[in-house]
Amino acid sequence: MIPNVVSIAGVDPCGGAGVLADVKTFSALGAYGCGVVAALTAQNTRAVTGIHEVPPEFLRLQIDTLFDDVAIDAVKIGMLASAPLIRTVADALRRHRPRFVVLDPVMVAKSGDRLLRADAVEALRLELLPLATVVTPNLPEAADLLGTPVADSPEAMRAAARALREHGPANVLVKGGHLPGDRLVDVLFDGERFVELAAARIVTKNTHGTGCTLSSAIAALLPQRHSVAAAVRDARAYVLEAIRAADRLHVGGGHGPLNHFHQAWAA
Ligand SMILES: Nc1ncnc2c1ncn2[C@@H]1O[C@H](COP(=O)(O)OP(=O)(O)OP(=O)(O)O)[C@@H](O)[C@H]1O
Ligand SMILES: [Mg+2]
Repeated sequence: MIPNVVSIAGVDPCGGAGVLADVKTFSALGAYGCGVVAALTAQNTRAVTGIHEVPPEFLRLQIDTLFDDVAIDAVKIGMLASAPLIRTVADALRRHRPRFVVLDPVMVAKSGDRLLRADAVEALRLELLPLATVVTPNLPEAADLLGTPVADSPEAMRAAARALREHGPANVLVKGGHLPGDRLVDVLFDGERFVELAAARIVTKNTHGTGCTLSSAIAALLPQRHSVAAAVRDARAYVLEAIRAADRLHVGGGHGPLNHFHQAWAA
């Protein structure tokens, strides 16, 4: 069966991140993609120039209307911007109980612009972490959620993953995109076992939406794989190829988007 997957996130008009990138990722990985919009952004590959939040009641209406009709297999949660929006999504997830929830705790865009109000970090930690099948913080996000210094080694990443899991998610994937050096490691922890996923850093400035794409790929694959580790491994392989093929696209002058359809558009 083709799984139905929904992204609950912001819209990035240049299509490199947010709901548009998420739906491209679902489509590329054999899932039917739905999208619920929590915020509009004015954004290109260089900067975020504005954020317009959807009223929480309308976010709730979008989610409830979708779930009332469509059997959703997996949910990917991206940028939620504020505590009321976070609480609205948490409440909806508790009522609708989807099988898989991938939480990307988006706080800052690749351009450096802040996407989450500072007071919302606590709501994210208290309300959404316990509902996640997998939470996918990058290193600064893991540090913000824990109130600790930013991890700078695989050992510190393992400690962060262990500490984050205490807040309730079934699995924690701490992403190493911000590590220095030419070897990147992501650390997956399921409460018992650590899996380290290492890869060589691809030298490119086209890394807009790597985090959105990875979390969406995991959401698309969880219903199609036998284990969380297998979904994460295959999602990561997809993202690496999408980064590698990004230079074929010519979108903007800043951090360009990934090539989500690198398989279908192979030259
Ligand atoms: N240059 C790169 N080469 C190879 N893999 C990368 C590169 N940059 C990021 N990744 C991988 O992409 C995934 C996303 O990680 P990253 O830490 O960049 O997320 P993020 O900071 O949330 O991204 P975003 O800013 O787009 O939200 C991880 O699996 C990471 O290892
Ligand atoms: Mg991110």
